[in-house]
Amino acid sequence: MKKGIIVFKGKYGATRQYAQWLGQELDLAYQEADQMTDELLSRYDFVIIGSSVYYGKLLLSSFLTKHFNVLSAKKLFVFIVCATPDSDEKTQSLIVKDNIPRLITDRSNIFFLPGRLILKELGLTDRILLRVAAAFEKDPLNKQGMLNGIDGVREENLIDLIIAATMYSLVKTNSHSDLKRSGAANRHSI
Ligand SMILES: Cc1cc2nc3c(=O)[nH]c(=O)nc-3n(C[C@H](O)[C@H](O)[C@H](O)COP(=O)(O)O)c2cc1C
Repeated sequence: MKKGIIVFKGKYGATRQYAQWLGQELDLAYQEADQMTDELLSRYDFVIIGSSVYYGKLLLSSFLTKHFNVLSAKKLFVFIVCATPDSDEKTQSLIVKDNIPRLITDRSNIFFLPGRLILKELGLTDRILLRVAAAFEKDPLNKQGMLNGIDGVREENLIDLIIAATMYSLVKTNSHSDLKRSGAANRHSI
């Protein structure tokens, strides 16, 4: 069985909550990204990376650049926690394109997970900037979420990611025939 770790960065708890659930379900350690080093990362076969999005930017964007050499040689699962719904594929694609180096995207399974926005818990600057952004938002549903808050954080949102990571961790890659026998394994391996 392959060794994996969950590395995450969030601000108000949504990404941490997903990382914690994943850690419990997959029996993996989960660590704040700031505590990771190249040496630590290199001990694992696969890395599950979780980050929330603020103003179109992944909080883990600089982590991906800093550890690019180690990460670009590993199997990666990336979960992105944000307010952009699956129906807005264009914005989701932009978030990926603007924040994740192409070589890393190529080695990753990427999952968008619904986030949480509780206005009274936000710092003053975030609250003000969100109000400003809401004033310019054209989509009425997005605008409502920005003004009233959202909470889409549910454990069941992780099902696809849990299945993909479990299959990857169980399938042996040292034998080509093993991979060939498992169609599902082929779907999730690079
Ligand atoms: C000030 C602010 C800016 C945000 N900007 C974006 C954004 O550009 N795109 C998006 O999809 N979600 C955006 N969000 C929503 C967050 O990504 C979402 O609330 C997420 O769950 C936060 O997770 P965290 O608590 O782990 O940081 C923003 C939220 C706040 C408070």
